[in-house]
Amino acid sequence: MIEDIVKRLDPMPSKSKLIIFGGGYSGQRIASVGRRLGVKVLCSRRKKDSKGADFVFNNDEELSNDIFEGATHVLSCIPPLMNGKDPVLRKLKTQLLNVKNLKWVGYLSTTGVYGDKKGAWVDENTTPNPQQERSIRRLSCEKEWLATKLPIQILRLPGIYGPGRSAFESLLNGTTKMIDKPGQVFSRIHVDDIAGAVLFLINLYSQGNNPSVVNLADNLPTNNLKVITLAAKLAKKSLPSTIPFEIAQKTMSPMALSFWQENRKVDNHLLCKKLGYSLIYPDFRSGLKNCFSQLQ
Ligand SMILES: NC(=O)c1ccc[n+]([C@@H]2O[C@H](COP(=O)([O-])OP(=O)(O)OC[C@H]3O[C@@H](n4cnc5c(N)ncnc54)[C@H](OP(=O)(O)O)[C@@H]3O)[C@@H](O)[C@H]2O)c1
Repeated sequence: MIEDIVKRLDPMPSKSKLIIFGGGYSGQRIASVGRRLGVKVLCSRRKKDSKGADFVFNNDEELSNDIFEGATHVLSCIPPLMNGKDPVLRKLKTQLLNVKNLKWVGYLSTTGVYGDKKGAWVDENTTPNPQQERSIRRLSCEKEWLATKLPIQILRLPGIYGPGRSAFESLLNGTTKMIDKPGQVFSRIHVDDIAGAVLFLINLYSQGNNPSVVNLADNLPTNNLKVITLAAKLAKKSLPSTIPFEIAQKTMSPMALSFWQENRKVDNHLLCKKLGYSLIYPDFRSGLKNCFSQLQ
């Protein structure tokens, strides 16, 4: 429920205007929370007839300066281009630098930049060591944003889940695979906590509490089998049999395989202890119950 997010947040200053580049899954949720807090929010999508497209940003056409008129906050949720460049900075860096009164610029990145840690914890002081091509591109975009001297904050995300994007979808359409790789864990974050944390961090930033990198992750990195098992219990579905990773990997897509090749736990101490954000869904158990309650 959007009220559960909003009630934890301080009001935003009046006349705040947030431009979101990439109004996809997370972007739309952040936009909804921002609007409920009284912020004027504009979201981009690549096609004007896409749901929630307030304007089009697709790397081809120029963007009118009107979009930036009165903007106080900007967030990019757009992944890197294949050449490692950031799509927003490639087209709009000069326009962004000319926006007067810009108080905060956020960039949604990934915890993939830390690389494989063989199951160990990573935090914001861990030196990035990306091994996957897409994570190398991501780190290069983070560096591009940090070099702009805009009031930038990098938010590193592990696996995003939430209503419509959780263990239930594959369970209900019969494509779930119970892959067993002993010792393997994944960190995750519920989309409502992305939205809650973004608006929370925007307010802190204006109070001078402004770390340049923050991990947004829940409290409990977990083996995928536990997540699927709970989803099956909630949905009263039987579980498929377990497949050892050594067998499953033979038919995995390169993308899926790349996720299973890395193992790390993402520490949220900075977000939740030092900065004081209170997670709405502290682990997959509460998060999955929310997803189940939203199933059509
Ligand atoms: N999914 C995960 O588990 C995960 C984990 C860690 C980090 N991330 C990153 O976190 C961010 C938000 O994730 P999400 O899952 O909410 O994203 P999403 O639903 O895939 O949305 C991405 C948005 O970026 C837009 N976009 C993509 N390429 C673009 C381009 N070249 N030019 C202009 N717009 C472009 C898309 O446009 P359309 O709306 O037109 O499609 C969409 O609005 C992304 O950068 C993602 O890579 C994701």
